[in-house]
Amino acid sequence: MNSSPTQIIGIASGKGGVGKTTISANIAVALAERGNNVMLFDADLGLANAQLALGCKAPFNFSHVLAGEKSLKEIIVEGPKGVKLVPGASGIQRLASLSATEVAGIIHSFSELEDELDYFIVDMAAGLSDSVMAFLAACQHRFIVLKNEPSSIADAYATIKVMIQDYSLDNICVIPNGVLSQNEGRHLYRSINSVIKNFLGGEVNYLHSISEDEMLLRAIKASQPILSFAPASPGARDFSAVADILEALPKHDSISGGLQFFVERMAAHQTDKA
Ligand SMILES: Nc1ncnc2c1ncn2[C@@H]1O[C@H](COP(=O)(O)OP(=O)(O)OP(=O)(O)O)[C@@H](O)[C@H]1O
Ligand SMILES: [Mg+2]
Repeated sequence: MNSSPTQIIGIASGKGGVGKTTISANIAVALAERGNNVMLFDADLGLANAQLALGCKAPFNFSHVLAGEKSLKEIIVEGPKGVKLVPGASGIQRLASLSATEVAGIIHSFSELEDELDYFIVDMAAGLSDSVMAFLAACQHRFIVLKNEPSSIADAYATIKVMIQDYSLDNICVIPNGVLSQNEGRHLYRSINSVIKNFLGGEVNYLHSISEDEMLLRAIKASQPILSFAPASPGARDFSAVADILEALPKHDSISGGLQFFVERMAAHQTDKA
């Protein structure tokens, strides 16, 4: 029996192409490997999407739900280790610029899911659109992926600034990606956190960094998650470490349990803006 509330994790970034989808998919697999019931929602529109990262094919996607042709349940496919994937609306509809009616449709469709989920992971589009902020506001844990490059650091800072100052969001965690050592990742976290403390008066947290690992590229080519393709690789070890840390975190309570929390928070965000 699952008695703890679903942990809802939103994975975002300032700059695009820094590894959100790779990290979302592989954290999902690592958590599922530990026996958790995990759902990954591809709320992004990109070429390297969650289907590719998980190595599974989905006949339908979110655009069919938005168009009212399929229910959410009908588009969900099962990926490696039993991860359930809600496929994104590839190339058809940008989830970053949904109309209020479409967001209402999403809210409605998620309230129909009855799964007892341990983790619900939302892979976001890059940047800071209203829909990305609406999704982030509805999550309990917010992960910002960044690389150790000036443009990625500047964009991550700008994103975190908006999250803290304009949306009063907390529980923000940075995940350095593509590092050569855990030390490099910790150092990057400390420097961005000290700027955030000094200029924004807030704070962000740190979990773990993800190593630069060419096995990630080879795994995608082989249509497998890195945890199955190269379990002993540095990348696979890092995702396992993140899953261990996440499992050990205190479980944030959701108001009414499960995905209803996500749905209600998204609805509240829409009402606030109206
Ligand atoms: N740690 C890593 N080591 C090596 N390659 C990586 C790593 N993380 C991501 N990549 C590669 O970088 C590319 C971009 O990654 P990904 O698609 O996950 O980024 P994204 O942030 O989701 O992009 P977008 O903003 O377009 O959605 C992919 O080819 C991916 O395989
Ligand atoms: Mg992506």
